[in-house]
Amino acid sequence: MRTIFLLLLISGLFRYSLAQEEGFCSAPSVLSKESKSKPLYSKIYDSTLSPLNLQNLPGFTRSVYKRDHALISPESHVYGPLPDWINTSGAFLISPEMGSHFIMYLAKLKENSRSGLPLHDVERFIFVLHGAVTVTSAHGESHILKVDSYAYFPPNFEHSIESDAPAIIVVFERRYAHLSNHVTEPLVNSTDKQPLLETPGEIFELRKLLPMSLAYDFNIHIMDFQPGEFLNVKEVHYNQHGLLLLEGEGIYRLGDSW
Ligand SMILES: *[C@@H]1O[C@H](CO)[C@@H](O)[C@H](O)[C@H]1NC(C)=O
Ligand SMILES: *[C@@H]1O[C@H](CO)[C@@H](O)[C@H](O)[C@H]1NC(C)=O
Repeated sequence: MRTIFLLLLISGLFRYSLAQEEGFCSAPSVLSKESKSKPLYSKIYDSTLSPLNLQNLPGFTRSVYKRDHALISPESHVYGPLPDWINTSGAFLISPEMGSHFIMYLAKLKENSRSGLPLHDVERFIFVLHGAVTVTSAHGESHILKVDSYAYFPPNFEHSIESDAPAIIVVFERRYAHLSNHVTEPLVNSTDKQPLLETPGEIFELRKLLPMSLAYDFNIHIMDFQPGEFLNVKEVHYNQHGLLLLEGEGIYRLGDSW
């Protein structure tokens, strides 16, 4: 039983380091010229990523919504208030209404912002994309998380996420699948502290942000691709993914679409 659950959900943050020169895919890229002056991961919230010639075309979007996948590009992120959060707006990217067993959203924290709690029995994972946030547990233990840092909050674990300056985080929430005699612990850490893992048959760099023990019912992968690198395995299985392209460019096949 449990094995099925472990495979049920792998949410990923992808980081393609793909410096695209003029070549066979030479749609003019706004990014390649401007990326050096922009903050790390600005791609996620910069809504002007469409090719230069199409940028201002009303109605232009690369976003698609299909039965088994969706591609949601930055200009389709619609921010609205998040229930119980203060001075924060959120853009939902994935929700159970789309058929997933988890929620994925971007939260934009403004000055003097503060999070609300997830629903009962729901675990939460956050990863900082811009700025910094302070996470505090009910016991008063406090950590400052900067870009590339993350936190995991077990279900029903009281905590707050606060910021006194603008910050952006990605949040994953999921109804926890309890297993007797196994409990998850709250975690705070950063990507650079995680070891590179073996990826037999693959050439990209892989880091996992959560422990691979039975207690954790999902994981977050940071996948780094150098120019020319690719994922060898063609995944066809029942497995749910939420994916955020953090940096660079790449080609991704979803269903029958490229
Ligand atoms: C939101 O931020 C503003 C400006 O910093 C602050 O004055 C206000 O009290 C905050 N709102 C709430 C509900 O705390
Ligand atoms: C962060 O992760 C590393 C590698 O998994 C671990 O050795 C270290 O103890 C963790 N740090 C904290 C503060 O949990």
